[in-house]
Amino acid sequence: MPTTSALVADNVDDILSTIHDQFTLDSSTLFKITKAFLREVSDGLSNYGHAMAMIPTFVKGVPNGSETGTFLALDLGGTNLRVCEVTLHGDKTFSLRQQKFRVSETLKTGEVTTLFDYLADSVDAFLTESGSPTTAVPPSLTPNPSRDMVNPLEEEEDSPAVPLGLTFSFPVEQMALDSGILLTWTKGFSAKNAIGKDIVKLLQNAFDRKHMHVNCVALVNDTVGALLSRAYTSGGCILGAIFGTGTNGAYVESVANIKKFGDSNPAVALGGDMIVNTEWGGFNNSRTALPTTPYDNKLDRESINPRYQAFEKFISGMYLGEIARNVILSLIDAAPRPVLFGGRASDALNKQWGLDTAVLSEIEEAWVGLGRFAPLPGKEDEDEGTRLERVRGVVVQRLGFADSDVSIKDAEIVRKVCSLVADRAAWMSGCAIAAVLVQTGRAHLAEEGASENAAKLRDDGQRIGVGVDGSLVEFYPNFETKMRESLRILVGPEVESRVNIGMAKDGSGVGAALCALVAIKQQHSLQQ
Ligand code: GLC
Repeated sequence: MPTTSALVADNVDDILSTIHDQFTLDSSTLFKITKAFLREVSDGLSNYGHAMAMIPTFVKGVPNGSETGTFLALDLGGTNLRVCEVTLHGDKTFSLRQQKFRVSETLKTGEVTTLFDYLADSVDAFLTESGSPTTAVPPSLTPNPSRDMVNPLEEEEDSPAVPLGLTFSFPVEQMALDSGILLTWTKGFSAKNAIGKDIVKLLQNAFDRKHMHVNCVALVNDTVGALLSRAYTSGGCILGAIFGTGTNGAYVESVANIKKFGDSNPAVALGGDMIVNTEWGGFNNSRTALPTTPYDNKLDRESINPRYQAFEKFISGMYLGEIARNVILSLIDAAPRPVLFGGRASDALNKQWGLDTAVLSEIEEAWVGLGRFAPLPGKEDEDEGTRLERVRGVVVQRLGFADSDVSIKDAEIVRKVCSLVADRAAWMSGCAIAAVLVQTGRAHLAEEGASENAAKLRDDGQRIGVGVDGSLVEFYPNFETKMRESLRILVGPEVESRVNIGMAKDGSGVGAALCALVAIKQQHSLQQ
């Protein structure tokens, strides 16, 4: 396997400091990224067809925690496919039962109808195994009978179809709450004959083929789910963001700013706010503002979507392991003498995608002595040697080396590479959050004199709710701390300290349920 670029230097420290400099962002780079981000936000709101698509979702408001009902939710787009039954209790709490299913590479890359048949089968399996199917729609509401599946052999004619919200975490141009066409695949999916198709129809057709009494009433992106569910549980939220397999954000925008609607769109007459799914993973595909290294170029060139999803490729869990693998390989191959592992690579390191981001996370956990969320008692004062020995153990095990092949120095360098790659990701994530705060009038870029203008800020002095989800932000040590570092530089400490970042746990399920509720209410009011 050819490596990215032969690193050539007489001195190991020179080699390491070159890599350090390539991955470390100074504040002027952070401002440059954020300004370019704001330009693409404006472009995407003005015209259709941009990679950072700024998709209007037709979700017009956020919940306040008083919503009630039981709904099915189907979630495709992260590591697993999940089917859940969500009950909203109306007091900011919910309960949830779920089942996870694996989506094989064959399904991800085969015919789209096969993939959607599998989705329908998974819902069927969940309903069968969980005994009684979900029927508890809000008491005063019944789903639109015109969309009900009627199968007299299997269902009583007057039993309402089970309403289902679909969380589908790919770029989908929505025409309404319950329809939208797939613009492109991301995150390693490439199922055939899907682009340009209505995702809700694909799913409903699969249910209908199987004579299932399930009605897909709402389609939602996972970022929108995160925003809605965080609003439901915390009482207020302006941005939902995912830092997991992929990255993306959705925020509450004023309809008047969605210029591409034109004057004739009914949404414009309604005015008010609408949640916009930014699809920020596609920010700056031209890479003019992104701090691209040869390691990023190699990843991009070998990916299934070269030149697309540029921002996502710097930030998300699908890619960080691969960037680190590229750096590690170049250190193994450095000239005139290897910097790592005496010049030997393991099978895992030689394989594309052979280094999972979860391993980077484990290496850093071993270094900081973290349990999942806090330093393990007694680990705070450990000496460096003990910590590095623990890192060495993870490197041996997870990178597939013999114990004698990995020195303490190797462990130290690998650990530093992991931090460089992850810190850059977290800093760049802070740029996206800062841009949303500026776009919505809640911050000025600090470079432009935030303090003098502070009085004019929207929500001045108030807490700014941000709901997040995804394995990186949940599990990667210090991801949020690093993200806040760049946010503070960009918007100043006063605004940063008011940003309340909270996990939107089960956001995809709860968000889909909340959207299903809105959809059913809309259908109900149309029937009146
Ligand atoms: C990718 C998808 C986007 C999703 C994100 C996080 O960027 O295109 O729709 O929200 O991953 O899952």
